[in-house]
Amino acid sequence: MSAQKTPVFFLGATGYLGGSVLARLLEHPAASSYEITALVRSQEKAKKLEPFGVKTAIGTIQDLDLLEKLASEAHIVFSIINADDDPHIQAILRGLKKRHATGDLPILIHTSGTGVFLSHANGLHGDAVVFDDNKPEQFEALPHEALHRSVDELVIAADKEGYAKTYIILPSTIFGTPSNALTKAGIQNTHSIQLPFLIKASIGRGQGGVVGKGAAKWNYVSNADTAELFVAVFNGVTTPNNTVPHGREGLFIGENGVFAWSEVGNAIAKALYEAGKGKSPEATTFTSEELTKYFGSEFVGNLIAGSNCIGLATRSKALGWTPKNTKEDLIASVKVEVDAILKEQASQ
Ligand SMILES: NC(=O)c1ccc[n+]([C@@H]2O[C@H](COP(=O)([O-])OP(=O)(O)OC[C@H]3O[C@@H](n4cnc5c(N)ncnc54)[C@H](OP(=O)(O)O)[C@@H]3O)[C@@H](O)[C@H]2O)c1
Repeated sequence: MSAQKTPVFFLGATGYLGGSVLARLLEHPAASSYEITALVRSQEKAKKLEPFGVKTAIGTIQDLDLLEKLASEAHIVFSIINADDDPHIQAILRGLKKRHATGDLPILIHTSGTGVFLSHANGLHGDAVVFDDNKPEQFEALPHEALHRSVDELVIAADKEGYAKTYIILPSTIFGTPSNALTKAGIQNTHSIQLPFLIKASIGRGQGGVVGKGAAKWNYVSNADTAELFVAVFNGVTTPNNTVPHGREGLFIGENGVFAWSEVGNAIAKALYEAGKGKSPEATTFTSEELTKYFGSEFVGNLIAGSNCIGLATRSKALGWTPKNTKEDLIASVKVEVDAILKEQASQ
């Protein structure tokens, strides 16, 4: 008789980040001891995932009863889907509470983002308080209204109440084009969020752009390194004598250094110039009208590519996580992303 498999509920299997994490779990040495159920939005994606031995449930994060049921059946939940939606995380937590009532102490590995501590700079300077993932008091001092914070608070409260052990991963600007079994099967989104936003705005105006002086700074981390951070947390929390900090202390930043938005803006300008789609190889400042046109509003443009957001992955690295991809890789990835987006747009 085969041993019972540990049930895992996975949200975000088809996403840029979630797909890479799932691909790593599928090739994990202990993969055969887990039964993974993934939430997907279409039959088509379900059909593509099933050959990988992944069970699927069709639904959205608005299907709260379904989320509660699936979470109640799982020992481990990965949520890599939405860092700002309270109702769906509340449904997952209700499910985990039910699970706890059956005698289990379930695990939630949730994805937030370093945007929780971003500060506005309109691209004019790079001075910011550095947030250390080893200092939970810094995060507790953040306002409830900060990006991602309300969801993080709900997750941490569940741990405090004692019905789940919770771990929050906070990636910074994720870059790089994932390549794994799920991308090859056409299941996973291969584009990140911030850089493509900036690239599309730059293509739209025919010139690489920056917000303000491009002086604001964020951390970067590659898609592959971020997936390894999830694996490091997963390995830690699934060892029999799990000592990984959880709850208010279970915060794990994904970063491998700092970049200025001018560095990325200039790389976009150069790539566009080389492709014959940009006027100059040096970035110029987005006008107010351009910010509104390409980012939805000046505020959003300033937030996405003109804010500061600097953290330290102290606790993540204490787990043994060793990110490999550097700023050179980030800058090199810009051209790849620019060319991919130009190609996509040309084929539409
Ligand atoms: N990318 C970054 O740089 C970055 C940095 C920090 C934090 N994060 C956070 O990481 C999480 C994942 O981001 P990502 O870059 O992987 O995003 P993504 O590529 O857009 O993936 C989002 C995932 O959520 C699914 N999804 C979206 N809306 C849904 C809904 N209503 N119901 C069910 N499924 C839904 C998508 O499924 P479909 O395939 O059906 O669309 C996809 O699997 C987010 O919370 C994001 O804020 C990302």
